[in-house]
Amino acid sequence: MLDIINEHIKKVESFTADSIDKIEEFRIKYLGRKGMLVQLFDEFKTIPAEQKREYGQKLNELKNKLTEKINLLKAGMTSGQTPSSDIDLTMPAETVTIGTRHPLSIVRNEILEIFSRIGFIISEGPEIEDDWHVFSALNFPKEHPARDMQDSFFIQKEPDILLRTHTSSVQVRVMEKQKPPIRTISPGRVYRNEAISARAHCLFHQVEGLYIDENVSFADLKQDLLYFVQEMFGKDTKIRLRPSFFPFTEPSGEMDISCKLCGSKGCKICKHTGWVEIMGCGMVDPNVLEFNNIDSTKYTGYAFGMGIERITMLKYQIDDIRLFFENDVRFLQQFESCW
Ligand code: PHE
Repeated sequence: MLDIINEHIKKVESFTADSIDKIEEFRIKYLGRKGMLVQLFDEFKTIPAEQKREYGQKLNELKNKLTEKINLLKAGMTSGQTPSSDIDLTMPAETVTIGTRHPLSIVRNEILEIFSRIGFIISEGPEIEDDWHVFSALNFPKEHPARDMQDSFFIQKEPDILLRTHTSSVQVRVMEKQKPPIRTISPGRVYRNEAISARAHCLFHQVEGLYIDENVSFADLKQDLLYFVQEMFGKDTKIRLRPSFFPFTEPSGEMDISCKLCGSKGCKICKHTGWVEIMGCGMVDPNVLEFNNIDSTKYTGYAFGMGIERITMLKYQIDDIRLFFENDVRFLQQFESCW
């Protein structure tokens, strides 16, 4: 009989179950009213007195092993673990790879947040556009080089359909739908037929702003851009405006900021000038207002546009624009975690 009990102990030790039903079946088999244990205790009565001690201890061992096993299996079921006594609860958990936000998204969000604080509303539009929204409504003359196949990606000619070359097209769409005052900011991907290098890519991202109301002046433009730059790059950042030309603004300017890398002392990034260019801007050309049915005798406006890649490269000291599009996790992991 001792052998039989030992046999049962082994069986109990190696028993596993993957459902509550199987555990219950096992429990009834051993601990039920007509179960194995009751039978063994019955047989125990017939054992000679001098052997009772040894048999009694074995039987108790079997009983304890049974309750222990059943409790363990039930606990495993409720906590969702594999029901096995071999579980090693001290084992380190499998590492879960957590994604990180793309640096361009981090900087885009930051730019949008800064402009939202001074009343700009986010607007978005299609990446595939027609001639009117990308060029004509923005006062581009017929012979402008941007209308050339060499500069823009055309999907269709006459009528011209192309990948937008700037997000100014979104602002045309806003002007179509909304009357002044307008204060909008348009982030998005743009495409240009450029040779890919460390400094240029055929696709990149922009944020463009437009503010139209009565009495909007160049002073408003300057002050709002100064606010943006100091929020983005720090309070000690200076701005400088140089005259430039865009078909849709008059006067037009290009804005530089004092070089953060060398403290304006001169370095490779600022080409030893102490200044880096970050955006184009200007007062909205009255023609553009009229094309979009806005009374140019009553309203004035300013506009600006910047490349998110450029701002990101300056902020994080990245020296090759191609890194943004290669999706190399070693690069992408260096920025803010999503969590
Ligand atoms: N649309 C111009 C560009 O893509 C930027 C710009 C916007 C310039 C608004 C002036 C005013 O380069």
